[in-house]
Amino acid sequence: MSKVLVSDPIDQAGIDILSQVATVDVKTGLKPAELIEIIGEYDALMIRSGTRVTQEIIEAGTQLKIIGRAGVGVDNVDVPAATRRGIVVVNSPEGNTIAAAEHALAMMLSLSRHIPDANASVKRGEWDRKTFVGAEVYKKTLGVVGLGKIGSHVATVAKAMGMKLLAYDPFISTERAEQLGCQLVDLDLLMQQSDYITLHIPKTPETTHLINANTLAKMKPTARIINCARGGIIDEAALAAAIKEGKIAGAALDVFESEPLGESELRTVGKDIILTPHLGASTTEAQVNVAIDVAEQIRDVLLGLPARSA
Ligand code: NAD
Ligand code: MLT
Repeated sequence: MSKVLVSDPIDQAGIDILSQVATVDVKTGLKPAELIEIIGEYDALMIRSGTRVTQEIIEAGTQLKIIGRAGVGVDNVDVPAATRRGIVVVNSPEGNTIAAAEHALAMMLSLSRHIPDANASVKRGEWDRKTFVGAEVYKKTLGVVGLGKIGSHVATVAKAMGMKLLAYDPFISTERAEQLGCQLVDLDLLMQQSDYITLHIPKTPETTHLINANTLAKMKPTARIINCARGGIIDEAALAAAIKEGKIAGAALDVFESEPLGESELRTVGKDIILTPHLGASTTEAQVNVAIDVAEQIRDVLLGLPARSA
């Protein structure tokens, strides 16, 4: 019987599917050396974002046929190294779209109404209604950077809340943007005119530090930026400085250059920043979706059926 190693927490629905065709070992929190030591026994590896699948791990996985990433981003897998060894890498491109979009929208509303700090204040026994006067999003401009699956859902919901929409995405047609009620513009114009900016792009060499001191300087002092896409798209030091110096009104981040977030200037910014620990996909529904989606693909490959690679 085939053997599957699950090295990050995955919903039971996925484990049940894998168990139909394989012996499944769930071993989370392994150190890289521990993973290297045992990976040679396994035909498949199923991960979330916690396991970094390096070239060394792939080379030690002499029996591996498939690596399944229960989520969208395969940036924690050395895909070229896997491809060289003939190992298929699969993901779940759509299973957590709604969860991530809703997290970005929750961040936008939490920022505009100071919900995290107001909540903390009441829990401290205070009743301070002056400090937490907020702003409405109705009739404000939302700039969506990346009008793919998640960006499109954010745009659709924001439109229903009465927001005006700008979008920057060089790979999307004007027609598609118009269907979503968005005006396609260049990044400079989006940064200048938006009251809220939300990022929904992959992290690539082109998008690393796409948002930096220069781009942040183009934002209105009343504008706020949200990143629920990938850490490193925003230059964190430049962002912390821009908020502390009052150049922008605030930010909400779910993803960081280094995760878990360690010592960071972002922690010292104060009330105008909201930080969550990579929770975009963390809904019950999304975790069931991605676990089933990826487990079915692993099952099919172990049965000798063709794969749909990431
Ligand atoms: P997608 O592929 O559907 O959309 C990405 C969009 O970005 C595409 O329309 C593409 O044309 C555009 N794009 C690519 N390069 C660009 C560039 N240089 N400038 C502007 N636009 C560019 O992806 P998606 O499913 O919408 O996911 C978006 C991001 O969200 C990914 O980075 C993904 O890993 C991340 N994500 C995070 C969480 C989370 O837990 N926080 C959850 C799911 C996805
Ligand atoms: C993804 O790429 O799917 C997200 O970052 C969510 C996750 O890692 O679980």
